[in-house]
Amino acid sequence: MTDPAGPPSDLDERIDRAIATLTLERKIRLVSGADGFSLHGDEGIGLDKIVLSDGPTGVRGHVVVGGREGCLLPNASLLAQTWDRDAVAEAGAVLVDEAAAQQTHVVLGPTINLHRSPLGGRLFEAFSEDPMLTGHLAAAYVGALQERGIGASVKHFLGNESETERTTVDVRMSPKTLREVYLAPFEVAIEDANPWTVMAAYNDVNGYPSTEQHELLTEILRDEWRYDGVVVSDWYATTTAAQSANAGLDLVMPGPETPWTRGLLDAVRAGEVTEKTVDEHVRRLLRLAHRVGAFPERRSWPSDLPDPAGPRRREQLSRLAASGMVVLKNDGDTLPLRPGNPITLVGRHASDPIAQGGGSAQVRAPHVVSVVDGLRSRLGSANVTFADGVETRRTLPTARPALVRDPETGEHGIRVRVFDDAGRLTHSRHLDVAELEDSQNEWLAGAARIELSATLDVPGPMPVQLGTRGPGNWHLATAGHEEDYRVDYHPGPGGGFFRPKSHAATVRVVPGQLVTATVERDELPRILGFVVSEAARSSAPAIADAAAAATGRAVAVVVVGFTTDQETEGEDKRTLALPGDQDALVTAVAAAADRTVVVVNAATPVLMPWIDDVDAVLFTGLPGQEAGDAVAAALLGDVLPEGRLVTTFPRRNKQGPAWNTAPRNGVLEYVDGCFIGYRGWHADGAEPAFWFGHGLGYATWEYLSGCVSGTDETGVTEVDVTLRNSGRRPGRETVQVYLNPDRAGEPIRLIGWARADVAPGEAAAVRVHCDPRFQRRWDEETRSWIPLRHGVIVIARGLGDVRVTIPVSARTDADHVES
Ligand code: BGC
Repeated sequence: MTDPAGPPSDLDERIDRAIATLTLERKIRLVSGADGFSLHGDEGIGLDKIVLSDGPTGVRGHVVVGGREGCLLPNASLLAQTWDRDAVAEAGAVLVDEAAAQQTHVVLGPTINLHRSPLGGRLFEAFSEDPMLTGHLAAAYVGALQERGIGASVKHFLGNESETERTTVDVRMSPKTLREVYLAPFEVAIEDANPWTVMAAYNDVNGYPSTEQHELLTEILRDEWRYDGVVVSDWYATTTAAQSANAGLDLVMPGPETPWTRGLLDAVRAGEVTEKTVDEHVRRLLRLAHRVGAFPERRSWPSDLPDPAGPRRREQLSRLAASGMVVLKNDGDTLPLRPGNPITLVGRHASDPIAQGGGSAQVRAPHVVSVVDGLRSRLGSANVTFADGVETRRTLPTARPALVRDPETGEHGIRVRVFDDAGRLTHSRHLDVAELEDSQNEWLAGAARIELSATLDVPGPMPVQLGTRGPGNWHLATAGHEEDYRVDYHPGPGGGFFRPKSHAATVRVVPGQLVTATVERDELPRILGFVVSEAARSSAPAIADAAAAATGRAVAVVVVGFTTDQETEGEDKRTLALPGDQDALVTAVAAAADRTVVVVNAATPVLMPWIDDVDAVLFTGLPGQEAGDAVAAALLGDVLPEGRLVTTFPRRNKQGPAWNTAPRNGVLEYVDGCFIGYRGWHADGAEPAFWFGHGLGYATWEYLSGCVSGTDETGVTEVDVTLRNSGRRPGRETVQVYLNPDRAGEPIRLIGWARADVAPGEAAAVRVHCDPRFQRRWDEETRSWIPLRHGVIVIARGLGDVRVTIPVSARTDADHVES
């Protein structure tokens, strides 16, 4: 990392010369976005435009909908469940190619907020509840991108652990909690991998907006941590000019109009901001431009990139997803499934899995493999009987392009026609998806009315739920059905852009039937699209059919899960119960089949009231485009599902150290302090449904010995463990090392982990390197770190399965314990 206080380099001099030639106006132009996802170039100083795109589970590109089809990776918490830096780095390398395919210099990820309350809507985008695991995986992710010349952005700095009132909430925490828990993953990522950008969050922290936090952005980030990258605001998060510019924010997004384009020039002229401060922002921006190949030389982009839907990516993405899946329960070795035995597969998520979460992270995947297809292609169609399950969704999604055709060309997709105020047709075009974003397309400028039309590509006469998605005054017409209606925005800034509401009615349609929907011009940017979904069915017959299909079967596999209404940006969950009547479905199938395996297709904890009635549970996360193939590979053991949980699962709603995400009078107190997740469960002596770190895999493990083999003045540096795979299958063990300090008020915490692949019957020696940054406490009085050197080292497979404990003190050099 370049030391900002070090001697000037050639680059620094070049940047100084460039800045010296810029007028104040040109400088200010550079530090606001040019549009949604790119920055201004400046030919005069040899600066190319820098292009950004959302991550973290794919590179969506510069448009929100209808952009390039690109790889949809397993979601962040599923990747984190591998506890494998190499797996995360492999995902990062895929993102580099995806960025290159779209000539994108910076990927806006990883999200390294923590899983505080399990209700948090955006947990699927973030790695875990643990600051150390999160920080280390973030460093692997950032390193993989940046060593290949693509910038990363660690986000959201700081305290964006939930989504309720997300643009206004004031998150309050003590300095100790701030340092030890929420800053910690950022500190590790910055110290170990120096992300070239950091994204300032929407929320306030301790009374100040994240974009105006002098303490966070300047005193801690720059002065203490010596960070030399760019701090970019979350989209529309900045509301001031002078305060944010002086606090240490460098770049305001999106453009072209921002509080800085409107107010920064005047603020400098009024003496509220010095030109030197603006120069510092430009300096960091030019440093970023240099790093990503936009200043002074232009980078070249490769053209021989792997096809997102090609065999190489399919193998990689399926393997990455399957290896992070967690075997939560496996009585009587029900898993892996034995090929050759016919199975009954049940559940809406089996035919329509949730492959990704909702919001800005969404990617247009080339395909999503269903579990039905994944299992049939591995087991043979005749061996897999499928029974649909119960309804799960609240908001109907945009129609799949395969269900609609352009009435003019007959191609899959829709026709969009644009009319002006006088009712004249100004534009007509085909889209190969069933939705568009109305502010993004020049051909929509001046539209008074937008018309979407399509013919339905349904297999036969049938009832469907037919309607539209997106806010506005709509008129929908098709044979036998005509309707005028209004769809509202969500309350709050942006109107819930990324998760528009939908409206639909059940209509009987025939193949080839024409549907036309028109919507009037509206104020805010919107996503507009067609809805064509299967007609809703009541639960009772669906459950009865599924139970009948499972009756007498040796094995039934029920796939259940959350929906994109729940795993989404912009909104928190209110319950961890599965939506619809999925619990009743599981119970009915479990009563009918000899053995029942439940596949939970969710990223975050789910309540499992049926847990004692079923034989096995596989927790799959949101597996990305190869979803069903990865689930099948994990169920059959073709890829070992050796994931370990990254979040503690409560047994009931409202259990655990942090539950509520609804601010009171605009304030959300982090009441759990440093006792986030498993730390709080442990301190309370409570037993969750499943601990952070839990995961059975398909092997069993004996821990033969454990010892502290290295200490220094910072604490324990190394722990050595000998273990044996006592099972009948190969396995990959994750050895977790925790420190339980013997000081009051100090929670147990993960300080290191290591993985080992071990064949059945074999023993292995595993060395765990421990991180001193998690063996210290922040002293609020002296504002300094103090090592925690007394306590107990706990070697565990999640805190519900502790294998070795070793007391440590300042004098401990090599404590050794045989278990
Ligand atoms: C999200 C960011 C994202 C940005 C740009 C915001 O709504 O919070 O994570 O990078 O949009 O799409």
